[in-house]
Amino acid sequence: MHGQSRLLALLAAFMPWGPVHAGSPQPPASTVTHTQASVEWQGNGLLLEVTALRDDIVRIRIAPNSGHLPEDASWAVLPTARQAHVCATPTDDAHAVGFATRSLKISINRLTSALSITDDKGTPLLTDRGAPALLPSDRHGFTLIKTLPDDGHFFGLGDKFGPLDRLGKSYAMWNTDSYGYREGQDPLYKDIPFFIGYTHHAYYGVFVDNTWRTFFDFGHEDPSALQIKAEDGPIDYYVMAGPDAKSVEQQYAWLTGPPAMQPEWMLGFQQSRWGYPTETALRDIGAHLRADHVPTDAVWMDIDYQDRFRPFTVDPATFAHFHQMIADFAKTGIHTVAITDLHIADAPHQGYAPYDSGMAQDRFVKDASGRPYIAPVWPGPSLFPDFTQAATRAWWGQLYRHFALEDGIAGFWNDMDEPAVFDTPTKTMPLNTVHRIDEPGFVPRTASHREIHNIYGMQNHRATYEGLLALKPDARPVVMTRASYAGGQRYGVTWTGDNASTWNHLALSVPMLESLGLGGFTFSGADIGGFAGVTSPDLLTRWYEIAMFTPIARSHADKDSGPQEPWADGRMHEDIRRHFIETRYRLLPYNYTLAEEASRTGIPMMRPLFMEFPDTLIHKAPMDLASGNEFMWGAALLVAPSPAPESPAPYRVTLPPGQWYDYWTGQPVTTAQALVLKGAAGSIARAEEGDTNTAHELKVAPRLDQLPVYVRGGSIIPQQPLVQSTMQTPGGPLTLHVYPGGNCQGSVYADDGQSFDFRKQAYNRVRFRCQIDQKGGLSLTVGPTEGTFQPWWHAYAVVIHGRNAPHAQATFNGTTLPVSVADTPIGHGLMVTIPATEGSLQVNQPIPEK
Ligand code: GLC
Repeated sequence: MHGQSRLLALLAAFMPWGPVHAGSPQPPASTVTHTQASVEWQGNGLLLEVTALRDDIVRIRIAPNSGHLPEDASWAVLPTARQAHVCATPTDDAHAVGFATRSLKISINRLTSALSITDDKGTPLLTDRGAPALLPSDRHGFTLIKTLPDDGHFFGLGDKFGPLDRLGKSYAMWNTDSYGYREGQDPLYKDIPFFIGYTHHAYYGVFVDNTWRTFFDFGHEDPSALQIKAEDGPIDYYVMAGPDAKSVEQQYAWLTGPPAMQPEWMLGFQQSRWGYPTETALRDIGAHLRADHVPTDAVWMDIDYQDRFRPFTVDPATFAHFHQMIADFAKTGIHTVAITDLHIADAPHQGYAPYDSGMAQDRFVKDASGRPYIAPVWPGPSLFPDFTQAATRAWWGQLYRHFALEDGIAGFWNDMDEPAVFDTPTKTMPLNTVHRIDEPGFVPRTASHREIHNIYGMQNHRATYEGLLALKPDARPVVMTRASYAGGQRYGVTWTGDNASTWNHLALSVPMLESLGLGGFTFSGADIGGFAGVTSPDLLTRWYEIAMFTPIARSHADKDSGPQEPWADGRMHEDIRRHFIETRYRLLPYNYTLAEEASRTGIPMMRPLFMEFPDTLIHKAPMDLASGNEFMWGAALLVAPSPAPESPAPYRVTLPPGQWYDYWTGQPVTTAQALVLKGAAGSIARAEEGDTNTAHELKVAPRLDQLPVYVRGGSIIPQQPLVQSTMQTPGGPLTLHVYPGGNCQGSVYADDGQSFDFRKQAYNRVRFRCQIDQKGGLSLTVGPTEGTFQPWWHAYAVVIHGRNAPHAQATFNGTTLPVSVADTPIGHGLMVTIPATEGSLQVNQPIPEK
């Protein structure tokens, strides 16, 4: 049964007064109660409560029949957010009840109870089709059916593997170990039930806070319906008003918390594989990286460093001088990250401390008969910590004491936490396994694995994060997880799991990382070179190139894969890979500024084009639908890998409106290079000189050693001299690359890179603005400056791109300074070096380069 008929049948089944016939029925008995911030509606067998948490965020809770809402508890949404409220103005009339805030209007139809939410311009964002929720007769689960607007598009849901736009597809949310997954395979590792919707120039957010198996259907089953279903659990969702995607991200971060700020070294290059089987092999990797001058900040240890794959052990035969090895790496500026999976080997009477203490304290998940649940994972038969108890998380956190404090391991990797279980078709534990919830904010009770499955990984890496924080309160914990739930970004970073060494995986890593970023996990990476299978030299090189513009750049490979270190495949490839790694290190001040912005606001580092150019539509849709291979690295850089990276064939790059520069040469993209222009509605027109309102198309055919990257005119990008690790202090000034254009600005953020002292003002943020005056002179304002931290630089080398000036003169705060033409790794430009203080730089007479 399809569409309308299916809907009417369902309505007939679940609405006590039968289907709706135009003109006939009387409104059923109902009650409406307004509080300052909410409306509560009881009718049609439902209790429906809508609360304005902020002007731009409402929470909707629905209870069937029972007359009372379920427990107000959440693993994802911060208590402060759930308790917040603002004044809402009631808007009840003869047909509907509801309220309005400054940004949203809520209305509940008196006849059908249908809920509709519109923005302040009257654009319908989310509209129930029929009843607000369809409930099956056994009272478990629900379906929300919303009208799918004609121009609707949908983005998000975390690690889904396919194009960015979710329109026309359906997805399940069920954390799943997915080795070597393929395009369209679903579900994967994480459950992030949050998406950004687009309709009518408006972006809005929807977060469905339900940990049970949940489904999203964006017009797949019925092209006119957006359907959200869950097997069980509360009907509890949040709608965010936008109106642009950056605002939605900030709203979502307000609800679920921004991502945990990472230490600076996490932005460096990281080398991993499964596995480096001995201490000698791992030391050789570190030495090789340094000998080949590949800037590197971390090496990762997979399960082979452990004794019989038992977490929190070290194999004394193969890693005899473990502690010394880590200390030696640290001396060369290389951090060590160690895997510590959650499964505790079932090893009674063997002196395995995690088992002994865990059993003594009753810390493990139970089977339906009440005995500890035991199932095979890497160490063989294993037990699974019951992470939904705060006391279990505290016990788990203490297991890191020796590793974190004495060995000095800098970061930890919680893998397999879906949780993965071997030798079972479901790949996880039975659904009737028993967890205990004993947690501030929750009523203590037991819960089945059906309910806990999707948050199990999140509570695992939360336990690690909070444990490390308790052990070292001054250090930003680094925890990488494979599984998680919405809000997990507060406790860790992630990666895209066991991807494969294929060109398709490389191409689709872009939308996948963008989607993770939209879902709060801005700190994400994909295994460089692909995990499963054998990569080719060209594929590996291209992967290194693109990954250097993603938040976490980690090379990692499967046990059976060939070498994927930068030097694999010989000198020519290594030189290209090193060049891109070096580019990343030069960009560190820019990248770190983006990381701090993300951890403060929730706006991801890697961004779809619609996040920066919300008003630019192509064929009436957000730009990314036409050029999903492109992405923004922060507000200033547009990275444009080929949509078919395996092919040397030329392809088109769409540049959003405005002036652009080629990042590698610093030269303006001229209209001669721009082949065609696309009008806002998708019409094709010829370029006009200085045209700034239309999107340009360029035709490019990059060689293997090239990746098209463009700078948005009006950007000021801070860069630093090359270092071999973030532990090394760069020598020389901070370079400010200025790309003249409209609304010219930039900023740089610095702190000690590792502690939380930035919360006590020990940071440095400087804003820059630049302007071209009527005579063509350029002025750069340095400041205002925030914070008390003294960064490593004492001067700025200001490099103005796209400008020529044989007779240029410069003054800074009234002092005349020399102007030179400087050759930088990213093109030549006029250069003036000024002290790193607030002030105003004037450069007279620079003329645009032709
Ligand atoms: C899982 C991880 C992978 C790791 C392997 C061994 O497959 O996803 O990254 O190398 O386990 O620990």
